[in-house]
Amino acid sequence: MPVTKERKSRSPVIRAGLRSGESVRVLISHARVQQRLKELAKDIRRDFPKEALHLIGVLKGCVFFLADLARELGGEVSFDFMAVSSYGKGTNSTGEVKLIKDLDVSIEGKTNIVVEDILDTGLTLKYLLRLFEEKKPKHLRVVVLLDKIERRIADVRADYIGFTIPNEFVVGYGLDYDERYRNLGDVCVLQFDSRGKGKLE
Ligand code: IMP
Repeated sequence: MPVTKERKSRSPVIRAGLRSGESVRVLISHARVQQRLKELAKDIRRDFPKEALHLIGVLKGCVFFLADLARELGGEVSFDFMAVSSYGKGTNSTGEVKLIKDLDVSIEGKTNIVVEDILDTGLTLKYLLRLFEEKKPKHLRVVVLLDKIERRIADVRADYIGFTIPNEFVVGYGLDYDERYRNLGDVCVLQFDSRGKGKLE
């Protein structure tokens, strides 16, 4: 179907269910994300050219990132997921990390790549790495799509970073606010006006 002018200019925000008092601004377009994923996949494959890679996705924010990255990696790739909670309904980290879903298969002796959507305070990743290191992996590396370096509390860093971003709350491409906006194709900054129920601190 040909793309008409109107279809082209229609905001993805509306399709993602924008609520009154909330607005989003594109920070990183879907196309830029896809381009960067190709580079990240190359970097990872350069470090582990022939190894079978076991991706560990941290739910739920990682879903699109992991799915797209896995397809760029080539070679032998498997993946597993785990879920932790570090955020409630708001936009600020509580510092608490709770294990909600454990891995299904062992990571022992494997070349594991933890796939995280965003590195913020780093508390979640610190907790996960401590957990994984006890399980005797052959290699343990971390790839994050976004790094909000200004917010770091824990002494932790990713081996592969998609984009370093300013201290703003972002949604889209898997990232949520109160479970919404994950389905936006772009990574967007979420903003509230006086009518918005949420608040950014
Ligand atoms: P950390 O433990 O503070 O590094 O937070 C990690 C988790 O917090 C991420 O995996 C996200 O689920 C969530 N998070 C942190 N910053 C944002 C954001 O800007 N938007 C959406 N979720 C975020």
